[in-house]
Amino acid sequence: MEPIRPGLEGVVVAETALSDVDGTNGRLTIAGYPVEELAPNASFEQTAFLLWKGRLPDEAEARNLQARLAARRHLAPLTLELIAHAARADRPVIDSVRMAIATLPTTEDDFEDALTVTATIPTAIAAHHRIAQGDDPISPREDLGHVANYLAMLQGRLPSEEETRALETYLNTVVDHGLNASTFAARVIASTGSDLVSCLVGAVGALKGPLHGGAPGPALDMVREIADVERAEAHMKALLSRGERLMGFGHRVYRTRDPRADVLAAAAERLYASGVDRSLYDLATGVEASALRLLEAHKPGRNLRTNVEFYTALLLDGLGLPTSLFTPTFAMARAIGWAAHVVEQRRNNRVIRPQSRYVGERGLSIVPKAVGTLPS
Ligand code: ACO
Repeated sequence: MEPIRPGLEGVVVAETALSDVDGTNGRLTIAGYPVEELAPNASFEQTAFLLWKGRLPDEAEARNLQARLAARRHLAPLTLELIAHAARADRPVIDSVRMAIATLPTTEDDFEDALTVTATIPTAIAAHHRIAQGDDPISPREDLGHVANYLAMLQGRLPSEEETRALETYLNTVVDHGLNASTFAARVIASTGSDLVSCLVGAVGALKGPLHGGAPGPALDMVREIADVERAEAHMKALLSRGERLMGFGHRVYRTRDPRADVLAAAAERLYASGVDRSLYDLATGVEASALRLLEAHKPGRNLRTNVEFYTALLLDGLGLPTSLFTPTFAMARAIGWAAHVVEQRRNNRVIRPQSRYVGERGLSIVPKAVGTLPS
């Protein structure tokens, strides 16, 4: 009998040229570029073009992509109405992202659909956030880049270059990451021949789960709870002795440092150096040093290191984003990867259809209901 592989762990089901997660050596390659090279240097539009077209754009192509995204930023009245309902009912913002994508028209052209979904997500997030706070949504601006426009719609002011660069670095860092659950979900749907919009609705559903996209909040909660670096060691020792995990450390695939943590740490350092209040950042770096010492003593040789969630939390918090926006902002980036995987899946498609082993009962019988006994 074939062994069952729960979670498909270790099972290779696709070839991809989009990203390579080398967990043993702590390396992440995105379409040929080490993440350390791509994330801090490319614009979001350049990264999207890279994943969708397989190479970086020239200047005219990048401008063209930016303009095509900008032209699709406005929400249809029905979409906005749905978002307003969700925001007033205090639903999670990611629900509005899912619903907004689901309202989009579909075409035969994956690239067109990818542009529309990508352009819609930030407007949906910002609209939900502002309505939930009792403010009016801010209309998207067509003269700004994708990331600057997102921050402007959220905060009602033009972001500084450092802020835009910091968020762009984050989005580029998490744009794609092998066959993670949401990407796999998108590919499963694509394998049936469904349209790209449907694939991305399914992917958002997978990302919403706390075991996938919902973790950066707790890392920040732990740092805030510690509050004073002097208390860090005692606080975390107590957590470990109760069998709890330190949030923002360890990873299923990376058996060494998570390379994304380093990229985000450098981006956070640059952001905080630009004048943002750094008290939380300084506290967090103190907590991190203490956590790494404790984890080495707790699991010697296991190399439990800082993961992407720790610095994601610090970076997004430094940009003034509340934790309610962390997962939706992650979706904004990963949508690029999802769309690229849909296109890749179509190129060499076979319906993804694994098997299950039946462990239920057999041979049960059912007594048919007598015919003609309807109540008179
Ligand atoms: N704190 C304390 N102990 C830990 C931690 C941690 N953060 N991470 C792993 N360990 C322990 C495990 O309990 C396990 O102990 P055991 O052998 O006594 O059971 C041992 O170290 C080895 O664990 P792994 O096999 O490396 O971890 P696993 O693959 O099961 O889990 C995970 C990985 C879920 C990320 C884990 O490290 C964790 O819970 N971290 C904290 C939560 C977190 O930061 N999540 C976000 C991850 S990033 C992302 O998913 C995109």
